[in-house]
Amino acid sequence: MMFSKKLQDALNKQMNQEFYSEYMYLAMTAYLRYNSLDGVASFFLGQSQEEHAHAMKIFDFLNEKGGRVTLEAIDGPQVEFKSVADVFKTAVDHERAVSKSINKLMDLAIAENEHSVKSFLQWFVDEQVEEEALFDRLLNKVKLAGDGQGLLIIDSQLANFVPKGKAT
Ligand code: FEO
Repeated sequence: MMFSKKLQDALNKQMNQEFYSEYMYLAMTAYLRYNSLDGVASFFLGQSQEEHAHAMKIFDFLNEKGGRVTLEAIDGPQVEFKSVADVFKTAVDHERAVSKSINKLMDLAIAENEHSVKSFLQWFVDEQVEEEALFDRLLNKVKLAGDGQGLLIIDSQLANFVPKGKAT
């Protein structure tokens, strides 16, 4: 292996958190579909798939570096929400926690002077800026929209949401 066991464990832990994020956004998709908000649901399904890709990025990186991937149990996500605003608030809070965790991981890579890990993690640092901004903006829009017609407009807009990097 090319870096410390401590750093390997921290990367595996981050991978688990990304799989948890996938699961969490899938639970939100299920809640939203049940409540006939198919557009918002498709947005969260897309987010869930992005989180799977994040986890696999770490999976592949560990493999490339000759590290050991260890898959742990994934915690059960929250499945009930008070409202669509509550879904977005939960997502914003979660992404802030993920950013903290990525920062800690970066601190460790810096402390161990592991340049390849630092370079690898920089993508995640940048990604978190975008994700926090996106969820923040959508939470504000949902709050402004209120229930009823405003929410239905957001629902139809999000039905056509194209995640960055997926546009053709
Ligand atoms: Fe992979 Fe939304 O953090």
